[in-house]
Amino acid sequence: MKPTISTIGNYEEQTITIGCWLDNKRSSGKIAFLQLRDGTGYIQGVAVKNELGDEQFQAVKNIGQESSLYVTGEVRKDDRAPSGYELAVRNVEVIHDTIDYPITPKEHGTEFLMDHRHLWIRSSRQHAILRIRDVIIQASYRFFQEHGFTKIDPPILTANSAEETTDLFHTKYFDEDAYLSQSGQLYMEAAALAFQRVFSFGPTFRAEKSKTRRHLIEFWMIEPEMAFCDHEESLEIQEAYVTAITQAVLKEAKAELQTIGRDTSQLEKIEPPFPRIRYDEAIERLQAKGFDISWGEDLGAPHETEIATQFDKPVFITHYPQKIKAFYMKPDPENKELALCADLIAPEGYGEIIGGSERIDDYSLLEERFKEHQLSEEAYQWYLELRQYGSVPHSGFGLGLERTVAWLSGTEHVRETIPFPRLLNRLYP
Ligand code: 4AD
Ligand code: MG
Repeated sequence: MKPTISTIGNYEEQTITIGCWLDNKRSSGKIAFLQLRDGTGYIQGVAVKNELGDEQFQAVKNIGQESSLYVTGEVRKDDRAPSGYELAVRNVEVIHDTIDYPITPKEHGTEFLMDHRHLWIRSSRQHAILRIRDVIIQASYRFFQEHGFTKIDPPILTANSAEETTDLFHTKYFDEDAYLSQSGQLYMEAAALAFQRVFSFGPTFRAEKSKTRRHLIEFWMIEPEMAFCDHEESLEIQEAYVTAITQAVLKEAKAELQTIGRDTSQLEKIEPPFPRIRYDEAIERLQAKGFDISWGEDLGAPHETEIATQFDKPVFITHYPQKIKAFYMKPDPENKELALCADLIAPEGYGEIIGGSERIDDYSLLEERFKEHQLSEEAYQWYLELRQYGSVPHSGFGLGLERTVAWLSGTEHVRETIPFPRLLNRLYP
């Protein structure tokens, strides 16, 4: 492998060449400090006039921000530097000289930055958030592989909806109508009956007219589905999984958390079990705090935030009324009006990060639900058929990646947690 800033410790006192960009610079008459980034880290290059000669020193002083360079230098230990090293510059080759880079160290408005998202992802804070996203993705694969799950890829073009039919993203499939997947769940249920434990990771689409800090039109979901698994066991898997990704971020993204300035004290306390409250109790807690909400209504963002502040770990809200939840959820045998489901609410106001449930495994009950929800039985024939051939109790859930990244990195708005967000008013860049 070629030397990079992240591996520079292996080259102490050696002279190496790195490909990099000029992040920032300051200089005096005799010495120039080049803040270099190569995508793996940052390092300071120290260019001295006496060593480079007049002509090259002058050229170095004039390099524009975000110019691409090959910098050759000697790696020197420097305990004050964040990377632990600095580069004593011996030669600078400009690959591409940049003039007037639009994103300067001064403050810019959000719309301007979003219009320049293709460049904005180079900046240290955005870079750190997307690194944390990667750590969560890698840790998710590890967790599920270690727990006997097979990765299965559901289709993105579908003929039916998995969730609310109101926010379906319509498209044409030659002469047929088709929709972009809202959730891979229905296909993952089929896969669970073939592989027992499966998980998917892919983009999902909701044509939601919501303009909030928690909603994207295109977002990525991790969707595990488990055969021979009831509601309670699913919650145990969820809390183990969320703990595993939290630990991974704390361990593997220390520098990134520091760049963002994330207070990690609350994250460090996260371990199973997570508190569980029933929907009934959530309503009582909200009413006690003066919220105008009655039994049967869905919880909104302010409600979730209030509940979250009453706990110092993610909290499960379970047993919602069947009426406000999806058609496939298994009714609670003790009260058929309630669903064997749970939403996991993240701490600190980041909202619902997981939605999950036990699924209906009985053919006639599911058939009834299709009628109640006015869903075409024809389109779901294959799904119904799963209840005809070796049906078993099974459960699953979906974790929204962007909200989870927002929570773990302490990022206010989900638009910064995905490389190129698709928002109500944004399909560019
Ligand atoms: O609660 P949801 O709608 O559940 C499902 O789609 C199930 N079929 C999942 C399953 O059981 N396999 O979505 C799951 C999660 C939410 O908890 C939230 O974190 C995220 O997906 N999510 C969104 N994230 C960003 N923007 C949106 N518009 C989102 N809608 C849901
Ligand atoms: Mg939900």
